[in-house]
Amino acid sequence: MTKIAPSILAADFSKLGDEITDVTRGGADYIHVDVMDGHFVPNITLGPLIVEAIRPSTTLPLDVHLMIENPDTYIGAFANAGADIITVHQEVCPHLHRTIQLIKDQDMKAGVVINPATPVETLLPILNDIDMVLIMTVNPGFGGQSFIKSTLAKIKQLDEWRKEFGYSYEIEVDGGINTSTAQICTKAGADILVAGSAIFQKEDRPKAIQAIRDAAKE
Ligand code: DX5
Ligand code: ZN
Repeated sequence: MTKIAPSILAADFSKLGDEITDVTRGGADYIHVDVMDGHFVPNITLGPLIVEAIRPSTTLPLDVHLMIENPDTYIGAFANAGADIITVHQEVCPHLHRTIQLIKDQDMKAGVVINPATPVETLLPILNDIDMVLIMTVNPGFGGQSFIKSTLAKIKQLDEWRKEFGYSYEIEVDGGINTSTAQICTKAGADILVAGSAIFQKEDRPKAIQAIRDAAKE
């Protein structure tokens, strides 16, 4: 079954704990946490302190998406804060195997994420070592942007490679996911759908999560 990962970037930060409890009860599978540093992306969001503060609000895995330069420096801090999965951008990791090993050494799952303009072939040397591939379906930095369709070919390619070579990574997609775009992603091979605006901008979050799940399988 398709997994849904609400992105708290679109939540009300003045009551983040309640927002997370709401989507946890509403059937979410992961909580997606967007960390931005104002360098790799033109926005600043949150760090390990907030991850630690929200940790008691859910038993779901915290899926921490690092949109930061020099992620190696902060992996330990996010592990201590309670992160379960960390994804790092290929574009900022010149020593990708070392970074992935650092994440695994802290008993977390490790993923790699690529921007819409980064070729999927750049991931070939690391695919056997990772738990998750995150395909950005918008340019990272902000919620509420439009889905970029050319990214679908990368999802398909990753699904083919894991069938062909027996890799075990999950495929996650992030950006512009809603009831109109969910199905083209799952048809291409995506397992996990991140959604910010399509969940937190709705009054009834459990219903919004279910609507995306239904749209994904129709
Ligand atoms: C974008 C973030 C996304 C964002 C998705 O840089 O990585 O996780 O919150 O937001 P929506 O679903 O509104 O496109
Ligand atoms: Zn994200």
